[in-house]
Amino acid sequence: MASRVNDENVVLFFDTTLRDGEQSPGATLSSAEKLEIARQLARLGVDIIEAGFPAASPDDLAAVQRVAREVGTPDGPVICGLARAVDKDIIACWEGVKDAAKPRIHTFLGTSDIHLKYQTGLSRAEALEVVRKAVTLARSFTDDVEFSPMDAGRTDSQFLVEVCAVAVACGATTLNIPDTVGYVTPQEWHETIANLIAETPGAGKGSGVVWSVHCHNDLGLATANSLAGVLAGARQVEVTINGIGERAGNTSLEEVAMALQTRAPYYNLKTHINTREIVKTSRMVSNYTGMHVQPNKAVVGANAFAHEAGIHQDGMLKHASTYEIMTPESVGWTQSRLVLGKHSGRHALKVRLQELGYELDKDQLNHIFGRFKALADAKKNVTDADLEALMTDELNRPTEFFRLQDIQITSGTMGMPTATARLVDIDGREFVQAAVGVGPVDACYKALDAVIRCPNTLIEYSVHSVTEGIDALGEVTVRIALPDGSRSFGGYGADKDVIVASVKAYLAALNRLMASTGYGEHKPEGSAATLGVAAAQSGS
Ligand code: KIV
Ligand code: ZN
Repeated sequence: MASRVNDENVVLFFDTTLRDGEQSPGATLSSAEKLEIARQLARLGVDIIEAGFPAASPDDLAAVQRVAREVGTPDGPVICGLARAVDKDIIACWEGVKDAAKPRIHTFLGTSDIHLKYQTGLSRAEALEVVRKAVTLARSFTDDVEFSPMDAGRTDSQFLVEVCAVAVACGATTLNIPDTVGYVTPQEWHETIANLIAETPGAGKGSGVVWSVHCHNDLGLATANSLAGVLAGARQVEVTINGIGERAGNTSLEEVAMALQTRAPYYNLKTHINTREIVKTSRMVSNYTGMHVQPNKAVVGANAFAHEAGIHQDGMLKHASTYEIMTPESVGWTQSRLVLGKHSGRHALKVRLQELGYELDKDQLNHIFGRFKALADAKKNVTDADLEALMTDELNRPTEFFRLQDIQITSGTMGMPTATARLVDIDGREFVQAAVGVGPVDACYKALDAVIRCPNTLIEYSVHSVTEGIDALGEVTVRIALPDGSRSFGGYGADKDVIVASVKAYLAALNRLMASTGYGEHKPEGSAATLGVAAAQSGS
């Protein structure tokens, strides 16, 4: 795979799902999840993965290092880390990426008058000096350095040229121009990028410098602005899967990739994206982050290829081109293939999972085989979507401070839905609690709360069926927040019983919360199993 090329006809994809995407409120990912997503991004064919912000925390640094070592192979993507234009960030960033075969340092500084005045308090002259020092330091570590003038969309155009000229003179090889607050229009952005390419000394056509665009979606224009940048000469786009990111998000990888492919005669540009991996990547990111994809989302929404109106259905039956500009298969939507059933063996499961992109060791295979068998017993045909949901459930496990042993629910029209949960903590101690709630899920969550005693507010709960039919596997995602609302944590669970899936999802979110706030704070007292009705009425 080509990673960093100066081919004028290739648009490089710089994926920042693991950095800007992870900045979406509540989308915290564990280091194992980041690694799994990075592997999938490599299969998708992205050229550069921005794996995180190493100076932000020791966990971020460790996650970037893991991605650099395991995904940053010589034939894999460039692995990049983000660093503010300060020495300590740049040094931490290098620590994060240096083990990749192709490491990149991405450093940035706010350059608009608004950012200079209110955020950094720097004069323009001082800002130029900061850029000079930062890029020079980054270049002392690696010859692949990217510089971003943050809030370029609101930066004075002449000053923007000066900043970019300094960055290039100090050795920046990629100049990324961010519309940080999603403010610009496509026409303006085209002019900005064209002007920068024409006016920045040492960075014009043939200079080897790659121009890049990084757009946010506050006015719903991120994809349009990114494509306008490409038309003006940018040859790198910074994107995220499903468009997740700060506030209204970043440019969606899938939208830009499919625009370039579907309108190839118009753009006349190539990419290295294997578009058939798009849907799988989208599902993985949505499951791991707990951020659902809206049904009408372009390319990856559940309705993106659904035809409802009679006249549309009539046209589709006559010829798909009447109402479809790209095929569902081209982005990886498969008909729910009926692949495996209860007579399928371990080998068939292993091969099918490999085809779906999952490499499992013996223990993992044995474990998933047990779950597959249980599912196949309950459900005649196990589809690819079922397998993906099982794998997400399996791989998406945070450190298990508590794991579910058993759950028993009684509910119905006679009142008092009651749940009894048996949990085992990380020290092997068993806890049993019963609780009454307004419904079965509420009762289960109260039983878990009675053991774990980890104050939180449930801010989101959603159930989806993986496939159609009464025997479909249910997926549940939840989001819980700390009582002061300062942080939130997502959890995912899949099971043929939606109540069990709900419990798994809540427990996953609680385990994540404990991983970040410290298990010790919530460790229950006593080692013996306890049994009691935790809450006799809802709300208690
Ligand atoms: O939006 C932005 O400006 C960024 C920079 C750090 C590139 O994410
Ligand atoms: Zn951004």
